Amino acid sequence: MKDDLFEKKRKSEKRYFDTDLLETVEEVFDRQTILTLFDLMRSRCIKEIKGVISTGKEARVYWGTDYEDREIAIKIYYTLTAEFRRSIWKYLSGDPRYEDLRGLDRRRLIYVWAGKEYSNLKRMIKAGVRVPEPYCRKNNILVMQFLGENGERYPLLKEAYENNMLTKKDLEFIYQDVLNQIIIMIEKARLIHADLSEYNIMVKGSTPYIIDVSQAVSIDHVNAIDFLRHDLDTINRFFAEAGVDIEYFKDLYNKIFEVFNEYSIKRV
Ligand SMILES: Nc1ncnc2c1ncn2[C@@H]1O[C@H](COP(=O)(O)OP(=O)(O)OP(=O)(O)O)[C@@H](O)[C@H]1O
Ligand SMILES: [Mg+2]
Repeated sequence: MKDDLFEKKRKSEKRYFDTDLLETVEEVFDRQTILTLFDLMRSRCIKEIKGVISTGKEARVYWGTDYEDREIAIKIYYTLTAEFRRSIWKYLSGDPRYEDLRGLDRRRLIYVWAGKEYSNLKRMIKAGVRVPEPYCRKNNILVMQFLGENGERYPLLKEAYENNMLTKKDLEFIYQDVLNQIIIMIEKARLIHADLSEYNIMVKGSTPYIIDVSQAVSIDHVNAIDFLRHDLDTINRFFAEAGVDIEYFKDLYNKIFEVFNEYSIKRV
């Protein structure tokens, strides 16, 4: 009897899932991931999954809706490959928040990684950094605010620039805003993004949103300053090539290091 009820409920839940989409999800993800997806639907975190936004190396991002009728982005991490495992290690080891992960199998490690993106997003939102608001996370699946409207995501900074959607003034404004976001990140969230680039910033008009924060490290990470320098070099290179006079923003740029030194643990 109970099983019948469960089966009925499961069927009605499945209605929300486009069958073609379910097939592609089933092809790409393992059984455990599909079960997690159904769990998130059962716990009313996800109502519908409507389409694919992006298929990357590490994760797929889907567009859907939740029971509050908000549009959501659903990021599903693939099970860890040996290469991915190596690439995430440099962010995990050295971060005081993730001190002891030895002995975790691949599956557990990817759960930690998705959980890290969720908690980084939470910290950033709380600090006032412009990132998508995280809604829920279970295992390797993260559900967050959809940056876009009616299923159409905002362009990445790179796309907006290449499609001539930004004026010089917009670019200056975005550059200044991104530098300010970095300061808030250090000062209030005590985090360094560590993979900041024109590919991980989306823009709504001239308002930038920072995304993809799974690798963001604590400012107390042993290599935090190197990650910060790398972020700033990448951002500066992009904006300089886009014609922004980055010298003009030198004071703000220097302030970032001052803030970093003030807020990071003084090491001897
Ligand atoms: N909250 C969101 N709202 C709308 N679109 C999003 C959102 N988050 C991510 N995306 C889209 O999905 C893409 C991939 O997301 P993200 O950068 O977080 O993952 P990734 O692990 O870097 O994947 P990749 O290997 O493709 O770089 C983004 O470039 C963006 O187009
Ligand atoms: Mg990315």
